[in-house]
Amino acid sequence: MIVTIDGPAGAGKSSAARLLAHRLGFDFLDTGAMYRAVTLAGLRAKIDLTDQAALANLVNRIRLEMPPGQVLLDGEDVAPFIRTPEVTAASGPIASSAVARARLVEWQRQIAKGRNIVCEGREQGTVVFPDAGCKFFLFADPTARARRRHAELVAKGEKIALEAILRAQEERDARDAGRDIGPMIPAADAIMLDSTRLTLDQVVERMEQEVRARWK
Ligand code: DC
Repeated sequence: MIVTIDGPAGAGKSSAARLLAHRLGFDFLDTGAMYRAVTLAGLRAKIDLTDQAALANLVNRIRLEMPPGQVLLDGEDVAPFIRTPEVTAASGPIASSAVARARLVEWQRQIAKGRNIVCEGREQGTVVFPDAGCKFFLFADPTARARRRHAELVAKGEKIALEAILRAQEERDARDAGRDIGPMIPAADAIMLDSTRLTLDQVVERMEQEVRARWK
């Protein structure tokens, strides 16, 4: 069974997807990590990330594997290097590239084949797995999302204004929702979940009930 969780950055998708997968005994796929790994590969290769021919060459050359807890780029675990502000900022052209998205979708379908898995991203329920057994669209009030992100960064010792996070988040939302291929939109049959006033546990509890009700 495939479970998809789509929605904007900061709504708690990753934490919810990981916890839900754990409770169900399913595998978990963070597709954002895959976009990030391709971005890192492009930065390391020093290619122009907007050059579609160079991107095509890159995604056909690299090997990306997603064993539990790891992001293997040509055999190297790059998980510690993909969440930097530099990679986040550079991921835009990869996310809006048709050639990169096509390859990533192919990889994601290969990974999910024959498994019980929770796949988290932006278009998992619409483009990648339109026949998924249970689909969620997890969202939250923009200020609540920015506050969570702000608290995370402050806890890491970073100094950044809430306003700056809110502005960057607005830009990302607009970009994710507005692109032509694989835009972030809820699937017609997605269960809409607003996490603004829910704890992570409450979100996962609700998801688990919905999945178990459909799991044959
Ligand atoms: O969810 P995240 O912040 O780790 O995503 C990283 C980048 O990849 C971001 O630019 C959105 C993009 N992305 C996407 O376009 N499609 C997905 N399924 C997952 C992420």
